[in-house]
Amino acid sequence: MSLTPLPPHGPQLETLILLAANRVRASRRTVALTGAGLSVESGIPPFRSAACGTVGLWERYDPMEYATIEAFERDPARVWLMLREMSATLQRARPNPGHEALARLESSGMLAGIITQNIDGLHQEAGSREVLELHGSWRTMTCLECRRRVASRSVPLARLPPLCECGGALKPDVTLFGEIIPSPLIDAAWEQARSCDCLVVVGTSAEVAPASAIPMAARGSGACVIEINIEPTPLSDDVVDLRLQGPAGVILPRLAAAVGALREN
Ligand code: APR
Repeated sequence: MSLTPLPPHGPQLETLILLAANRVRASRRTVALTGAGLSVESGIPPFRSAACGTVGLWERYDPMEYATIEAFERDPARVWLMLREMSATLQRARPNPGHEALARLESSGMLAGIITQNIDGLHQEAGSREVLELHGSWRTMTCLECRRRVASRSVPLARLPPLCECGGALKPDVTLFGEIIPSPLIDAAWEQARSCDCLVVVGTSAEVAPASAIPMAARGSGACVIEINIEPTPLSDDVVDLRLQGPAGVILPRLAAAVGALREN
C-alpha cells in the first residue's frame, strides 16, 4: 500500500474503494470506529493532526492542564475556558457527507453500529441510531456536588464555571483524561469489535486507549480492517488491510455509493 498522499480522485484510490466496498458488501457484520478526523469537515478541529490544515486543539491547550479530571477539580473555571471555546464550535457544527454516508450504510443494513470517540453528537444528527459514545457526549452536564444532570443547551456560559442550582460546578458528560469509561460502555464496544468481520476505522490517530486497541481486537477476531484517514497512523502498517487515504467527507460517500451499486447488481 502506497504511503504517499493520494489525490482524492486517484485511480489507485478508486480501486481501493471498490475493494473496500466488496468487503463491506460481503461482510456479515460491519462496524465503524470513528474519531475527530471525521468531524473536521464539520468545522471541528481535531486534537492532534496538523495535516488537515487546522491546528489541533492540543497544540493550543495543553491537555495535561485543560483536559484531565484533576485539572477540572482543581480549577474548573480555567478548564471551562477551553470547554467554552469547544462549546461554541460544537453548537455551530452540522453533520458532513461522511456522517451522512455512515447513516445511509446503517439504514441500508450494511453497517451494524458505530463506536465513536467523538462527543459532538453528529452521528445521531445525521441519522445513525446504533452509536456507542465511548468518550461521552456534549449534550448533557453533571454537577460535581449533587450529581444533578442538565441539558448543555440550557446552561449559560457567560460566567465560568457554570454552576448547578446547588452551587456546585457543572462538568460536561465527556471523559477527561484520568476518568474511567463506564464498564458497560467498554464491554459493549469490545463486543462490537469482536463480533464484527469488517471494521471501518475513520479519522482517528489511534493514540488513545481503549479505542486505539479496538482495531487490533477486531483483527484478532478475524475482521478485515479498513482505514480512512488523510495520513498514515500507527495502525496503518500492521493492523490495516485496506487504507483509503483522503478526507472522510469525500471517501465515505464514495464507499457508500459503491456498496449501494453492489447491492443493486
Ligand atoms: N478525514 C479523515 N481523517 C482526518 C481528517 C479528514 N478530513 N482530518 C484529520 N484526520 C485524521 C488525522 O490524520 C488524525 O489521524 O483524524 C485523526 C485525528 O486524530 P486526533 O485529533 O488524535 O483525534 P482522535 O483520534 O479522535 O483522538 C482520540 O483523544 O484527546 C483525546 O478524547 C480525545 O476522543 C479524543 C481521543
